[in-house]
Amino acid sequence: MPTSLVCGGAGYIGSHMVRSLLEEGERVVVLDNLSTGRRDFVPAEALFIQGDVRDGELLDRLLPQHDVNAVFLFASLIKVGESVSLPLAYYENNFVGALRVVESMVRSRTPHFIFSSSAAVYGEPEAVPITEDMPLRPTNPYGETKLAVEQMLRWASEAHGFTYGALRYFNACGAIEDATLGEVQEPETHLIPLVLDAAIGEKESISVFGDDYDTPDGTCVRDYIHVMDLARAHLLTLDALRRGGGSKIYNLGNGRGFSVEEVIDACRSVTGLPIKVVRAPRRAGDPARLIASSDRARQELGWTPHYQSLESIVETSWRWHRKRRGGRTA
Ligand code: UFG
Repeated sequence: MPTSLVCGGAGYIGSHMVRSLLEEGERVVVLDNLSTGRRDFVPAEALFIQGDVRDGELLDRLLPQHDVNAVFLFASLIKVGESVSLPLAYYENNFVGALRVVESMVRSRTPHFIFSSSAAVYGEPEAVPITEDMPLRPTNPYGETKLAVEQMLRWASEAHGFTYGALRYFNACGAIEDATLGEVQEPETHLIPLVLDAAIGEKESISVFGDDYDTPDGTCVRDYIHVMDLARAHLLTLDALRRGGGSKIYNLGNGRGFSVEEVIDACRSVTGLPIKVVRAPRRAGDPARLIASSDRARQELGWTPHYQSLESIVETSWRWHRKRRGGRTA
């Protein structure tokens, strides 16, 4: 079986990807600097190397040594707010990191690259659902770095003859069914883990950032997509690249929007616990609605998200969350 190098394979989405690749029989090498990833997220079946994607010499050794056929790049800084105050750190980690990986791939003639892009490349959309050909106008450095990498990939792939998939995730969430992996951010910023923290008593309440948006209940609407559905879309993309298809750009979302209120209600229903809500001002830079059109991925890859309802997603998050928080339920 071919070998994939998963950069950031000890992190949230990367570790789910590693599991999915191993299940397919792929050989997997994980490169992670453990700045946010966890060593215990990498199974024994994968070879783990602690190192940084910006280390070109390390990459120049790894790619030929393991005869790597595809590189996945999950390693990235992901906090939108932080990117506004630390833009250079975002360019350094996200853009320079991708540049170093691609340079090394070109030197070793590695044929395929799969990039974790983001709905943040669209900024405030002019309409929903968002299709891949809509204007790309990021509103923060995080989204700019993702877009800059996509642009670099377009030119570099044409010049140097590799193919790539740029996958624009909407709101990644959920956890693997057996609850051995899941979302961990310190400090946590994402809605579902924060709501579950309020359910479990780790936090007193959940703050709802803005209830006067132009949406049915006034709270922001997002497209929540399960991390295992994301992983499957990556497998299908890799398969398409290996079969000789050209480079691909896909939105990955459920195609359905849920409001912050609806997420909180789903968490109440799944946990059976009361969740205290506090109204708070809008968070800077939050678009009212982000909903994906994933028609391109559905048509070209035959991808259909398995987790369609919020409850089915939250159930998997809850199983992981309880385990992570030591089995406490209140
Ligand atoms: N929210 C709250 N209270 C909280 C946390 C979040 O009301 O305590 C709201 C936010 O305002 C937003 C929604 O819940 O309306 C979802 O917020 P998240 O922080 O979970 O996710 P975002 O939609 O802000 O961001 C996600 C990814 C980014 C990516 C973006 C692109 O985390 O990396 O989607 O769509 F850039």
